[in-house]
Amino acid sequence: MSSLPQTPRALQRAYEPLRGEVSLPGDKSITHRAFLFSLLDSRPWRVAGWLDSADTRSSLGAFRALGGRVATKGDDLLLTPPDGPPRQAGQVDIDCGNSGTTARLLTGLLSGWLDPEGSTVRLHGDASLSSRPMARVVDPLRALGADINYEAAAGRLPLVIRGADLSGGRHHLPVPSAQVKSALQLAGRFAGGQVVITGADNVRDHTERLLPLLDGGHDQTFLRVPADPSAAAFFLVAAALVPGSSLTMRNISLNPGRTGFLDVLRRAGARVTISEADETGAEPLGTVTVEQAPLRAFSIGADEVPTLIDELPVLALLAARAEGRSAISGAADLRAKECDRIAATADLLECVGVPVERRPDGWIIGGPHTLRGGTEHTPHVVRTLGDHRIAMTAAVAGLLAEGVVRIDDESCVAVSFPDFFLTLESLLG
Ligand code: S3P
Repeated sequence: MSSLPQTPRALQRAYEPLRGEVSLPGDKSITHRAFLFSLLDSRPWRVAGWLDSADTRSSLGAFRALGGRVATKGDDLLLTPPDGPPRQAGQVDIDCGNSGTTARLLTGLLSGWLDPEGSTVRLHGDASLSSRPMARVVDPLRALGADINYEAAAGRLPLVIRGADLSGGRHHLPVPSAQVKSALQLAGRFAGGQVVITGADNVRDHTERLLPLLDGGHDQTFLRVPADPSAAAFFLVAAALVPGSSLTMRNISLNPGRTGFLDVLRRAGARVTISEADETGAEPLGTVTVEQAPLRAFSIGADEVPTLIDELPVLALLAARAEGRSAISGAADLRAKECDRIAATADLLECVGVPVERRPDGWIIGGPHTLRGGTEHTPHVVRTLGDHRIAMTAAVAGLLAEGVVRIDDESCVAVSFPDFFLTLESLLG
């Protein structure tokens, strides 16, 4: 068991305001897409502001395994795509690590892009990813004619993809998932007819915004990746909770499919200001400032969930400190994330003394509650289950708790934000 590195310091400063400005790493969803979509271009992509994390390295590894060449130009990455799909006999092996976005988007892309006479591709991942559902992409892709075979358990990685001629078709998403929609959009580029997808209201539209870059007329595609709102959320929620806080973050993605948590912060009573909004690039971005104010309970329902799906654990923590009864529903798919986030978040809150009513699709959380830790010798220990977003939520809880809170594994933050703890320390210091 390792301790939450900043917790003892943070506790000495419990409720000391978070103030100032912080710069954040690039957006994970957009970085994945840059690495994967550039495979399909005939010209190099230059990517600025990209996220270097374990998850995005899985997509970069896939780009390389499929014949792409990667170079650096200062802080930017220069991605030179291969001359078409791999053609040698045999199989290309790709390790998707912990990354659902890599596995699902690649499954769609490869189903259409691979040459039926060329290489097959095997996708596999770590234990968490191998337990997550793949049928949600494989079934609709097979309906278009994709040739995908599970190597062991049905519906799970590893799987093997062979090139096939795809036809058009219609698919209604039972779960509003940007990953599934993107997989079908990628396959649709190669299909003989139109692929129509419904049921994806409010999900992030990065794929729609970035795929047109493939048809640009320049000899190089330039993409500036905005900072990740899902990373920002942990600090901005902390700023909303600690009296006297005022925190500013620049160049944050303002994609409406990602900013639902800012609407929730506003509804809860925090002061949220957006300035310097810039919509001239492929993705909108701007400066976000959050100032603490008295917080009241809020509700989140199914329609809004896709716009804040990854922020729900830390929003549950917000609910624990808000006045009244907050209801979060329509989020059953949280059980199919890096861990069962409905259970893990409830366990986390109970670990710091907050009672939670668990529902199949969310939580009911009353407030405000004082968050409680233990002593140095008998700390309250949060189990992250290897999930980066649970670890970061626990870190914010550690800032607010009276007593010592530790987490069992802080290394999992490397999945999306390797410098998370350093950034948090810099805000406290
Ligand atoms: C993502 C979509 C979401 C999100 C994940 C990244 C993406 O997953 O939870 O972290 O980049 O498209 P779902 O599409 O499965 O909801």
